[in-house]
Amino acid sequence: MTVRVPAKVNLQLGVGPIRDDGYHGLVNVFHAVSLFDEVTAVHAERLEVRVQAAPYSRVDIGGVPTGDDNLAAKAAGLVAARLGVEPRVALRIRKAIPVAGGMAGGSADAAAALVACARLWDDRDDPALTRDDLMELGAEIGSDVPFAVLGGTAVGVGRGERLTSALTRGTFHWVFATAGGGLSTPAVYAECDRLREEQGEPPPRPGVSEELMTALATGDAKGLATALTNDLEPAALSLRPSLGRVLDAGRDLGAAGALVSGSGPTCAFLAETEEDAADLASALDGTGLAAQVLRASGPVPGATVV
Ligand code: C5P
Repeated sequence: MTVRVPAKVNLQLGVGPIRDDGYHGLVNVFHAVSLFDEVTAVHAERLEVRVQAAPYSRVDIGGVPTGDDNLAAKAAGLVAARLGVEPRVALRIRKAIPVAGGMAGGSADAAAALVACARLWDDRDDPALTRDDLMELGAEIGSDVPFAVLGGTAVGVGRGERLTSALTRGTFHWVFATAGGGLSTPAVYAECDRLREEQGEPPPRPGVSEELMTALATGDAKGLATALTNDLEPAALSLRPSLGRVLDAGRDLGAAGALVSGSGPTCAFLAETEEDAADLASALDGTGLAAQVLRASGPVPGATVV
């Protein structure tokens, strides 16, 4: 059973105060883009995980765990427990989504494993676990996992896991600049808190950007570009100042919008047209500032059996 699953970029990442459980209240507008990992699940003696770079991908898989702490392995365990079977499955993960890059690659693999294992162990027409059930299980693994099951464009509240699909029109064209070495998501949230405390700023109570929603609904790339915001960006830039040069380069080279993707360090650039995206990608590549320059479009569907 093979499942293809997309990366995400956050169009709006509004970070509110820290909650009692250590998570931050968020307004998180997720957008799935056409950069995919693939997870294949086959019956096996016991749970095992193998990770490799996808064909033609130069993704660095060095930091991906292959034990029980791999999020896809956790997903397999949760599905097995829910279905009352033993998690006897070998998971082969082919990665094209940057690792620890702020594009939810690990969460994507977990979402793909949820869908793949649920189908592997229960192939009835009317399966016991619905897509909603899998999204609920996904929330136990990580805040971004339910969205990777759902895909498209969606507004997440709570810690980002309570989702409502957003109305969009047309296709948006993106360029991503990856960086060598990842950023730890908890470290970036902690830096965000530290910077706010240092500046004596009370944490904002984020609300969904109306400007953003209108741009999405009307397919207005220019409007979307000016509405992009990420409250984690100052923290990511503080931990990795070199990202400032990458964002500036993208803007100078004609990107309509530029921001750090999620907790970084990948930088995301929105172009007005597909042709602009192609030009921007080759120009950015020429600067040598990015480890890798990738192109993708969105929105695309969530975890899908292929
Ligand atoms: O949910 P997930 O395990 O992906 O989150 C990773 C880390 O990101 C958390 O341990 C936490 O430090 C931070 N986080 C947060 N608030 C959120 C989501 C994530 O502080 N809403």
